[in-house]
Amino acid sequence: MKVLVTGGAGFIGSITTRMLIDAGHEPIVLDTLENGHRDAVDRRARFEIGNVGDRRMLDRLLPGCDAVMHLAGYIEVAESQRDPGRYFHNNASAPLVLLEAMVEHDVRAMVFSSTAAVYGVPATVPVTEDAPTEPVNAYGASKLAFETMLEWFERAHGLRAIRLRYFNVAGAWPDGAMGEDHEPETHLIPRILRAMAEGETHFEVYGDDYHTPDGTCVRDYIHVCDLGEAHRLSLERLHAGGEGGVFNLGNGEGFSNLEVIRACAEVTGKNVEIVFGPRREGDPPELVASHGRARRDLAWAPAHEDLRAIIEDAWRWHSGHPGGYSFCQV
Ligand SMILES: NC(=O)c1ccc[n+]([C@@H]2O[C@H](COP(=O)([O-])OP(=O)(O)OC[C@H]3O[C@@H](n4cnc5c(N)ncnc54)[C@H](O)[C@@H]3O)[C@@H](O)[C@H]2O)c1
Repeated sequence: MKVLVTGGAGFIGSITTRMLIDAGHEPIVLDTLENGHRDAVDRRARFEIGNVGDRRMLDRLLPGCDAVMHLAGYIEVAESQRDPGRYFHNNASAPLVLLEAMVEHDVRAMVFSSTAAVYGVPATVPVTEDAPTEPVNAYGASKLAFETMLEWFERAHGLRAIRLRYFNVAGAWPDGAMGEDHEPETHLIPRILRAMAEGETHFEVYGDDYHTPDGTCVRDYIHVCDLGEAHRLSLERLHAGGEGGVFNLGNGEGFSNLEVIRACAEVTGKNVEIVFGPRREGDPPELVASHGRARRDLAWAPAHEDLRAIIEDAWRWHSGHPGGYSFCQV
């Protein structure tokens, strides 16, 4: 299938692109490269530098496409709190142009990268897809705003969309050739691995007074390749005429920040002193996915359930590429 992959030079998009090509699909990657990396994009894919809000670019790329995978977006929660306009513009207004262009060019299938942040602070875990959506930061609100637009386009224009609500994405391509390279990095596993690799003296954990077994936040980590596989299955479901819908994607098991740090120390053989700082505003105590719907309706199952194995893949990438993509060729 010919598929436009927005944000395909980013962490998840680049790995998904490679998996799509390996499965016989034909991705066209569209990315501004603002936060992505040219070297992350598989050389077999057509690559265009551009914005999802650029209608002229879309008029060139969409004809002949069977579907769009929309991963492009800004992803930093703290920045979204300081500058919500930037998030609503890039994560909602710009991709509205994409939706309109899709209708015009009769491309009526989309797989969208949504997030567990749309649930805010869930009242119960594991979180099912029917849990109330009450985001507590502008990042989550901007992703939910786009989900809402999608629903209206589904009703009015017969577009079919699968909204994948990811929990915490981690890991790397198993041989360590592709991985996470964000600046700034805000995700726990790459931050701790970087601190260990660089011999930092201490590492700050946000909050130790949550109502969780060891007082630190609990999160559900999904391997980036399991996510790539879910994208492929979603695309093929839509192509086969299947319905759209919302799917949580996580491993279904929670690990506290301290458990994750301990597992990183075991994998790397390095230690770093933990210091506890204040809680981060809007951090839910516990976020764990109920992923039964994805297992049932997408026939998806995570192949990397072991946290240690996820961290081993990430460590292979980080230890082999201390400067990220600026030091490598895919
Ligand atoms: N990483 C996670 O843990 C996580 C969790 C939940 C949801 N998500 C969602 O998954 C998607 C991908 O996340 P990621 O970690 O790969 O982020 P990333 O920053 O590595 O990738 C996003 C890519 O989108 C590009 N981009 C941003 N705005 C654009 C625009 N207007 N037009 C074209 N390209 C644009 C960036 O240059 C970047 O390459 C995001 O939409 C994010 O909201 C990620």
